[in-house]
Amino acid sequence: MSDQAGNAEDGFPTLIPNHVAVIMDGNGRWANARGNPRYMGHQAGAEVVRNIVEAAAQRGLSYLTLFAFSSENWRRPASEVNQLMNLFVDALEREVDELHRNNVRLRFIGSRGQFKIDLVRRIELAEKKTRNNDGLVLIIAASYGGRWDIVEGAKSLVRKATMGKLVADDINEASFAGELSLAGVPDPDLLIRTGGERRISNFLLWNLAYAEMWFSESLWPDFSPDEFDEALSYYRSRQRRYGHTGDQVA
Ligand code: IPE
Ligand code: IPE
Ligand code: MG
Repeated sequence: MSDQAGNAEDGFPTLIPNHVAVIMDGNGRWANARGNPRYMGHQAGAEVVRNIVEAAAQRGLSYLTLFAFSSENWRRPASEVNQLMNLFVDALEREVDELHRNNVRLRFIGSRGQFKIDLVRRIELAEKKTRNNDGLVLIIAASYGGRWDIVEGAKSLVRKATMGKLVADDINEASFAGELSLAGVPDPDLLIRTGGERRISNFLLWNLAYAEMWFSESLWPDFSPDEFDEALSYYRSRQRRYGHTGDQVA
């Protein structure tokens, strides 16, 4: 972590966010506006991922979490879901070596049960190959939903209680957070959503409690490192109060 980074709950200005989360939205509209099928937007979006990962590493972020496919995106037409799954497999095949060379550690969060075995294997390989890297941690949320995450956490706690490993009063915010997909990862400091919508769409419900939010009208395939920098400078202009008064944290 660079010494500029910070996730200080003491309100001190943090120059570079430690953890940025991104809802990469607008691929389909981008393609349709060009008279193209939606999958071409997803392809173009995958190219932009590479640029933004590179920018995030250069700017000194510690964590970048990208929302690639939600629990609810399974409701899309089977043809689009298949195209997206194939794109994930291709992207892993193409990008993992380069990410590894750049010292990026890859992690995936979400329910893997519905993925084809080939995709699961590539995810596991990518995580294994990069697990000792100590540069940027790139977290891909795929088949991920914030409610799913919280429910899985609750199940895990009940299992522990059933085994006699904990009682109700052992549960607190920290121990609950320890059961979630991002256990051990500091909460996102900044959430970016492209595509013009201003909603969370069931992304990291627990973890975004105090994230600063930056919404862009750009469709994801048009998002650029320059715009990423705009979001970072917006972040620098915020005073994070965590319930305190402005005077308390000034
Ligand atoms: C985001 O773009 C990518 C995924 C959700 C997989 P969309 O596919 O949602 O694009 P729009 O919002 O329909 O334009
Ligand atoms: C959110 O985008 C999910 C991802 C970007 C992966 P959606 O396009 O699925 O969100 P809604 O349906 O417009 O809320
Ligand atoms: Mg969308």
